[in-house]
Amino acid sequence: MKKIVISLGGSILIPSLSDHTIREYVPELKKIAKKHRLFVVVGGGGEARRYIKLARQLGIDEGTSDEIGILITRLNATLLIAALGEDAYPKVAESHAEAKKFGESGKIVVMGGITPGQTTDAVAAVLAERVGAAVFINVTSVDGIYTEDPKKNPHAARFDRLAPKELLEIVGQTALGAGSNNVLDIVAARVVERSGIPLVVLDGREPKNLSGAILKGKYRGTVVSDMKKNPLPL
Ligand code: UTP
Repeated sequence: MKKIVISLGGSILIPSLSDHTIREYVPELKKIAKKHRLFVVVGGGGEARRYIKLARQLGIDEGTSDEIGILITRLNATLLIAALGEDAYPKVAESHAEAKKFGESGKIVVMGGITPGQTTDAVAAVLAERVGAAVFINVTSVDGIYTEDPKKNPHAARFDRLAPKELLEIVGQTALGAGSNNVLDIVAARVVERSGIPLVVLDGREPKNLSGAILKGKYRGTVVSDMKKNPLPL
């Protein structure tokens, strides 16, 4: 069994309480976990952004706003664990060490954020290093990495493949405030570069893409790696 770390963006899993894909992702994750050891890092989604917006309106500093964001990611992680039932380890991991320990159970490990100044993508990138993952998958709301944000510039070009150094150049141009919404944060990009673990950025708007990518190698997205070999299927 290979280890897989998935950063499941809140914008995909739970954009709002009335509009979520938890029902669709539960069978996907269970299916993948039959073949591989899964670690899922859940983002904050729309609720985190709404709380952070309110915090800013109240004049609350960025670090505290981040802490509020982290609480929401853990709330989302709790919801996913409950929805996964027996297949998930029953507690949200609050550190990488805890996630590693919980992984020994063989169950799906779920966590959210851990520390201010980053996003759950960075949490997942470090977790991939710590558990020795075969691949790090970032499930997001675009179909890969573009030269610029494709939602802002419709002429932005998509990459099928990128070297970790090129990824760093692209994400280095964007700012990191609480609730910021980039394809990957700079901390995550640096960790991807140093770990050498291949990163696959996948379009998660269609939940079935996840098992299609991992089990069959069928996907549209961007591979970030210096290796020539395709990281998927596993
Ligand atoms: P994310 O930005 O990771 O959630 O965390 P998201 O909604 O999933 O983002 P997408 O969908 O991948 O774009 C929400 C917020 O929580 C705080 C940050 O403010 C972040 O923007 N956070 C999260 C931290 O401060 N530290 C963490 O380790 C994780």
